[in-house]
Amino acid sequence: MRISFCCANTAPEPWLVRLRAAMPQAEVSVWQPGAAAADMAVVWQPPQAFFDEQPQLKAIFNIGAGVDALLKLRLPPQAVVVRLEDAGMAVQMAEYVCQAVVRHFRDLNAYAADMQAGHWTFYPPRQRSDFAVGVMGLGVLGARVAQALAQFEFPVNGWSRTPKALTGLTPFVGAAQFNDFLACSRVLVNLLPLTPETVNLLNHDMLGRMPRGGYVINVARGAHVVDADLLALIQSGHLAGATLDVFRTEPLPAEHPFWHEPRITLTPHTSARTLLDDSMAQMVAKMAALARGEPVTGVVNVAKGY
Ligand code: NAP
Ligand code: GLV
Repeated sequence: MRISFCCANTAPEPWLVRLRAAMPQAEVSVWQPGAAAADMAVVWQPPQAFFDEQPQLKAIFNIGAGVDALLKLRLPPQAVVVRLEDAGMAVQMAEYVCQAVVRHFRDLNAYAADMQAGHWTFYPPRQRSDFAVGVMGLGVLGARVAQALAQFEFPVNGWSRTPKALTGLTPFVGAAQFNDFLACSRVLVNLLPLTPETVNLLNHDMLGRMPRGGYVINVARGAHVVDADLLALIQSGHLAGATLDVFRTEPLPAEHPFWHEPRITLTPHTSARTLLDDSMAQMVAKMAALARGEPVTGVVNVAKGY
């Protein structure tokens, strides 16, 4: 078996060392134009030229959970696209989102600023029952996040395309229940995949339907949010603020107004990192299964976009 590695912004060596150790019978190499035809590919944001030169690929392994960038390319139609499922990302996402919710709920940014300035101040405690957190997307990551939030006894709402059998949350399904979901969610956590249906979903109209004082946590993709709409709603006082980990352009451009809005907390797309060993173990097991002709999970539905 030949495996071609084509990952942007990723040092190849640690991946190659592990792939070769786990699959000694395979020929593993970093893709370069003109490289030999491979059976399987390990990719992250590859160029179109990679697929144009490798039309025979049987399987494409994406070293991330989201496949929005990959699905913009022309892929070999027979190749299965396999994404990472959890692989150590779900617990990271749970800890990131819980810290963002708790930081806002407990006024920890304000306390940090006060202490820095030498002020010993108290803010009135908030009512947890008034602080329902709505999780958009109840897949591998969203379900784990919802479960973690429920451990802190926040009321949790969950919104998905199809019904889910999850305990500890109030479920909302599809477009028909979207308004009700928004109206009763004081904090919104976005964990949707970026698809033609979800692009620009966090816009003025939709965010305006959140209760006054609402808070937004976007950990999915920057293009879910209409930046100017989010800013306008924060500056008008309808929303209390946001925690943003993902952006339309990354790195976030120096002139972007998000940098200067103190009610927005920013991080550089780090809420759930791809972990080398966990990801490799998952991919290698699936490569071996596919080579034996067995089915694997995590196969992307290209028509749906996730
Ligand atoms: P997933 O398992 O595919 O889950 C996606 C969820 O979204 C599913 O519950 C799905 O509903 C729901 N959904 C999709 N389209 C919808 C729509 N139009 N309306 C309502 N619900 C919809 O994905 P995941 O592994 O949890 O990952 C989610 C996203 O997180 C990724 O796509 C990626 O963009 C992002 N991510 C970000 C980071 C980071 O570091 N910031 C790291 C990893 C992933 P059904 O189950 O009913 O189909
Ligand atoms: C990261 O953003 C991922 O999709 O894994």
